[in-house]
Amino acid sequence: NPFITVIVTGVPGVGKTTVLGRVAEKLRSKGVRFEIVNFGDYMFREASAAGLVRHRDEMRHLPLRRQLELQESAARAIIADASSKLGGDGVLLVDTHAVIRTSTGFWPGLPENVVRELKPDSIVLIEAPPEIIVARQQRDKSRVRSDVASVETVRELLEMARKAAMASAVLVAASVYPVENVEGNPDIAAEKIVELIEKLR
Ligand code: AP5
Repeated sequence: NPFITVIVTGVPGVGKTTVLGRVAEKLRSKGVRFEIVNFGDYMFREASAAGLVRHRDEMRHLPLRRQLELQESAARAIIADASSKLGGDGVLLVDTHAVIRTSTGFWPGLPENVVRELKPDSIVLIEAPPEIIVARQQRDKSRVRSDVASVETVRELLEMARKAAMASAVLVAASVYPVENVEGNPDIAAEKIVELIEKLR
């Protein structure tokens, strides 16, 4: 890609979307040209248009082959949109997951076909202690988290996410950049991501 691409991952409820909101404010104030896209939005648009799901939390329970089709077309559409909006000095940030807990097991959010399409320079791994992630999931009433996890389940997913992020990064020689989303202060994580972007540019 002519633009810098940073994939921002983290387990559900860790605060990816919140942190990216702060990143947007900081990049705007620095005059950096950027686009932030949510991978799940692209998948959901297509899945709901096809009548497959009513809300986004249903997507990970679709047959795996169907999720794979949605995942591939989301990656293609994201790059097509970003290419038409961003110039060579722009930054694309993709809000997504390194791993998804599906009905049939852990599933890579960034398998080879997807990560090669997105061609990230870096994969950010937003993390927080599992107890805090569970508390954030419970507070977040905007989502249908029928499967709000136990601390142990979140710990397991965090471990899988680290392994999956590194495995995806190896395929495209991207860096993996862990960032803690500190309770009560998402600006700290946002600042670290802005620092990463400045180094990549
Ligand atoms: P997605 O849209 O990414 O859903 P999610 O992971 O559940 O993400 P959320 O946006 O709900 O959580 P978040 O971590 O962004 O936290 P938030 O900022 O809201 O994905 C939806 C679906 O799309 C997936 O389940 C999957 O099916 C599919 N999908 C996506 N990518 C895919 C891929 N690559 N391949 C296949 N499928 C894919 O914050 C949560 C709460 O915490 C909020 O209440 C917030 O106020 C609070 N909070 C945040 N930060 C802090 C802080 N520092 N201190 C205190 N509270 C905080």
